[in-house]
Amino acid sequence: MLSEKNKSQWLQLKKYSEEEQTMSNNNPLLEAFKQAAYPVIGHGPRNLQVLQEAIGNMNGQQESDIYGTGKIIEEFQAKMANFLGKEAAVFFPSGTMAQQIALRIWSDEKGIKKVAYHPLSHLEIHEEDGLKELHHIETVLLAEKSRVIELSDVQSMDEEVACLLLELPQREIGGQLPSFETLVEISNYCREKGIKLHLDGARLYEVLPYYQKTAAEISQLFDSVYISFYKGIGGIAGAILAGDEAFIKKSKVWKRRYGGDLISLYPYIVSADYYFDQRVNKMGTYYDGAKELAQLYNELPDVSTRPMEPVSNMFHVHFRRSKEEIESILVEVYNKTGIGLTNHLREIGDEECYCEVSLGDRYVDVPKHLLEKAFQLINEMLKAKK
Ligand SMILES: Cc1ncc(COP(=O)(O)O)c(C=O)c1O
Repeated sequence: MLSEKNKSQWLQLKKYSEEEQTMSNNNPLLEAFKQAAYPVIGHGPRNLQVLQEAIGNMNGQQESDIYGTGKIIEEFQAKMANFLGKEAAVFFPSGTMAQQIALRIWSDEKGIKKVAYHPLSHLEIHEEDGLKELHHIETVLLAEKSRVIELSDVQSMDEEVACLLLELPQREIGGQLPSFETLVEISNYCREKGIKLHLDGARLYEVLPYYQKTAAEISQLFDSVYISFYKGIGGIAGAILAGDEAFIKKSKVWKRRYGGDLISLYPYIVSADYYFDQRVNKMGTYYDGAKELAQLYNELPDVSTRPMEPVSNMFHVHFRRSKEEIESILVEVYNKTGIGLTNHLREIGDEECYCEVSLGDRYVDVPKHLLEKAFQLINEMLKAKK
């Protein structure tokens, strides 16, 4: 269990993402990042152009979806069920809603209001205890915060749970992953013990190049799967929950109870579908970029990435220097080179800070000589301030 102190620390480290940070004012790092000619992370700015581009060539006479029915939503759900190798899928406005519902369904089915997941899972630290407050479901936190869940953690669990949730990749620890063999072993163990296995695959596409598997090959190890359309894919918002027909039927009832059955969800669906087609096959390029960029960071003094070698397009960069110091170095480097590396740093005590890196379309357009110059400058400044 996380102590109350640890938990509130994590809650204070309020979730950050590029899209959230674009809203804040009086932030010199963010301002310098916005001015940088070559932002390195993400796909592009989160502005209305994202929707305009997605909808641009569509037939304006096409009918909207209405309360979960209609061609536009049904075809997309079928396409995603097929992509994930599941019988059925349902589109949700958010992953938060989809996953709480998935865990509720499995808890009801088993008659046990208890589920297990990682101490830094999205449900535990970013959802204001929705699962506990709304469903009175207890949680068992498996593994230390700094590493992913292994088979032995599941085997040594002494409490009976309805469901185990695995997050691939584990975002809060730099996107670490268990081996594929471990996934297979955990899946077999859960099936043997009657524990449902749910995949928080918010960034599932992003780990496919590392595993060298299809989404369906990974999904078949799980009873239910959630994927997101605004992280690696870069859509506006939205999620798919997939599983067998009976599970999906129940999830639609819960979607209505939650108020998630919006009369029309098509702006989210259209953008999800458009950017899915654009980007799902580019994950290998983003992954290669992440390995290259992580190497540049790891050559700097007092800097290391987590994991050392990325296993997806994302990783964390830890600076063993104060946040103020790194911020002032980065602002200077952005101004001198036009390279924007990150827009946000999180403090870990007085002498350490870190940022999250997630690569998308932008990285390939960054001139290599300017990127190298930026790292050379950071190197010099870190050495000078030692
Ligand atoms: C791993 C993970 N799971 C679930 C979610 C929830 O997704 P949503 O923002 O669509 O509710 C997120 C969002 O950041 C996430 O990172």
